[in-house]
Amino acid sequence: MKLLVVGGGGREHAIIRSLKKNPDVETIYAAPGNGGIAQDAICVPIGATEIEKIVAFATENKIDYAVVAPDDPLVLGCVDALEEKGIPCFGPRANAAIIEGSKAFSKNLMKKYGIPTATYEIFTDLPKALEYLETAPMPTVVKADGLALGKGVIIAQTREEAKQAVTDMMANAKFGKSGSTVVIEEFLTGPEVSVLAFTDGKVVRPMVSSMDHKRAGDNDTGLNTGGMGTIAPNPYYTEDIAKQCMKEIFLPTIRAMKKEKRTFKGCLYFGLMLTPNGPKVIEYNCRFGDPETQVVLPLLKSDLLTIMMACTNGTLAKTPVRFAKKHACCVIKASKGYPESYKKGYKLSMSDRAARATFVAGAKLENGKLLTAGGRVTGTTAVRGTLEDAITAAYRLSAGVKFANAYSRSDIGQKALAAKK
Ligand code: AMP
Ligand code: GLY
Repeated sequence: MKLLVVGGGGREHAIIRSLKKNPDVETIYAAPGNGGIAQDAICVPIGATEIEKIVAFATENKIDYAVVAPDDPLVLGCVDALEEKGIPCFGPRANAAIIEGSKAFSKNLMKKYGIPTATYEIFTDLPKALEYLETAPMPTVVKADGLALGKGVIIAQTREEAKQAVTDMMANAKFGKSGSTVVIEEFLTGPEVSVLAFTDGKVVRPMVSSMDHKRAGDNDTGLNTGGMGTIAPNPYYTEDIAKQCMKEIFLPTIRAMKKEKRTFKGCLYFGLMLTPNGPKVIEYNCRFGDPETQVVLPLLKSDLLTIMMACTNGTLAKTPVRFAKKHACCVIKASKGYPESYKKGYKLSMSDRAARATFVAGAKLENGKLLTAGGRVTGTTAVRGTLEDAITAAYRLSAGVKFANAYSRSDIGQKALAAKK
């Protein structure tokens, strides 16, 4: 089989490494991929949102199956466009990807179907939003409606901060068109859990739970990033909570989407907060999380391609989805200065052992040498019998990944370790 994976980050590298384990896979193309992915797939210089070019490439090269991994091509209808040409895909169509593409849509969906989430108001008019904030309880959370690279969420401690945030989004277009509509919602507290789930639109098969570390600095300080590291499974996510989430959140969401004639097929990411009043949805993503995928897929025992095709074909109910009863930890190495400004173009080197454990997120190949080319550069994952050992091993392996001005958090997994005790 010839596969095409759309995207070019650490998540895509992890997906490609898992797909390669299937003996029926002859060739994997990645659009655009990256310098590290080039070790495992054939990279083609087509951007993830260049949908016409992706469709032309897939048709000309007789691609048997495509995996569309990032949010933007999904929201832009990449799956719809490929399917129109008869190419089966993993990932939701645009009318279902809206569950991530519009926070107003997802909040209204949850309200309509009684799925637990923070209470909220939606505004398209700045004066009305400002007026609402005069009496809204603080802290409060201001969210841009559309995709904003994970940066469109402001936790405002004071009225002034909240007003500044809505003004930036609605009047100063800080997040472009994404912020012309804003959601203002209740501030929730509790441990956060990421649950990625396979679905064919009828049944849901949750993957092993994980914990992201979103802030740039140790002890959850500094700016929000795409994620500085992950561990799996998440110790807060007990079997009882998993059962409750299946009943109150996962199945109701899949059924709601079907009822709205927006059947969701692919990977649905539930960003949950375990509040004192039970688990609530913080956000939905229409795709695998990054770096969550870099700990979840290394724990997958069943064949990824078989599961993905079962999601597409509607046969997930009879397809095994099993995970190893082990622990995984992924440590991200980023360019110093990320998520703000940083320098690129430094030589990236990895020992053989480190390279086998590392997914490359931001690097390019130049004259056969890897050079850093992004904020997050690598993710190094270790799988061990205990969380403690996985953390130690991930840091040890990550030390074999070298580039100038590299930055990692030193406490990935520590919160989870403390929770276990
Ligand atoms: P999101 O991009 O929606 O995942 O939000 C980014 C982060 O903001 C989340 O991981 C949470 O830590 C935080 N957050 C989002 N919504 C809320 C909320 N209603 N209450 C408290 N924290 C929130
Ligand atoms: N790590 C968070 C995300 O993928 O959205």
